[in-house]
Amino acid sequence: DWTPGSIIDEQVELIRAQVGSGRVICGLSGGVDSAVAAALVQKAVGDQLTCVFVDHGLLRAGEAEQVERDFVAATGVNLKVWDASEAFLAALAGVTDPEAKRKAIGREFIRAFEAAAREVVADAAASAAGGDGDGEVRFLVQGTLYPDVVESGGGEGAANIKSHHNVGGLPDDLQFELVEPLRALFKDEVRAVGAELGLPAEIVGRQPFPGPGLGIRIIGEVTQQRLEILRTADAIAREELTAAGLDSTIWQCPVVLLADVRSVGVQGDGRTYGHPIVLRPVSSEDAMTADWTRMPYDVLARISTRITNEVAEVNRVVLDVTSKPPGTIEWE
Ligand code: XMP
Repeated sequence: DWTPGSIIDEQVELIRAQVGSGRVICGLSGGVDSAVAAALVQKAVGDQLTCVFVDHGLLRAGEAEQVERDFVAATGVNLKVWDASEAFLAALAGVTDPEAKRKAIGREFIRAFEAAAREVVADAAASAAGGDGDGEVRFLVQGTLYPDVVESGGGEGAANIKSHHNVGGLPDDLQFELVEPLRALFKDEVRAVGAELGLPAEIVGRQPFPGPGLGIRIIGEVTQQRLEILRTADAIAREELTAAGLDSTIWQCPVVLLADVRSVGVQGDGRTYGHPIVLRPVSSEDAMTADWTRMPYDVLARISTRITNEVAEVNRVVLDVTSKPPGTIEWE
């Protein structure tokens, strides 16, 4: 019979057997899978692990702090924060096509992770020269889940292609053996293991959020100012959904800024010409299909009133009432 505790005990032993005295690196995304995988490895081999968090500047309000402060406090992990937000903004300048945006973000991500990983490798070699253990970083932790394994064809080779794809094809001098402690688990088991390991509820219970982050929720070019508008509107929506007790009813609720659209409004004595915000609450089992959530009008009203009052550039809030198919959950 599997319990979170027995899964942890078993994985800790397996990780120790695989890694020995070697050094391990793990990329954190802010999501639940990489956080739980890292926490398991930390429990197994402690200081042999270094985590890397590439801050692409496209996270929601408070999410970078959840990794940098709360995750570190809960696990005691060695964390290297790599602030690459300027590089991401530069790479996104003038880019409006959704696929081009995703490619630009993916490319920048690999570049940033590579640079951070090189520093971790160099630091490890330097401390080993000082007599401090095994200096070679040979292992990379991946938060691959059982459904990912199945989806990519089941066998070792197929799963490696997918995993490899996740780290985006690192160059030859940065090849690692993979450590995948979540390979046998489903999402709900991962959450249970994370909770048992003492991770913060905000991380363990996080709803799905796309890797490219707010970059694909700004329809139009991504700029610092637009990110700030969307981040504020999104924080208000999330706060009200949580306050209304809807977090477990709603699968996720993308908040989207139509940055290239303007509409006329009126506020006080003045005419405004602002941007619309789209609310996209969906109900789903697995994100393959979804329906728009019939959520209470009074909650929608509160979100709308607060966003239009508190975010000066937004003068209209609209609700997306499309199921998937035909609409995807994200707008890009
Ligand atoms: P769509 O928009 O395709 O989204 O209906 C399905 C689910 O996947 C999430 N999503 C992503 N997750 N990287 C991710 O890690 C991505 O590039 C990505 N794009 C979409 C989306 O939030 C939804 O849960």
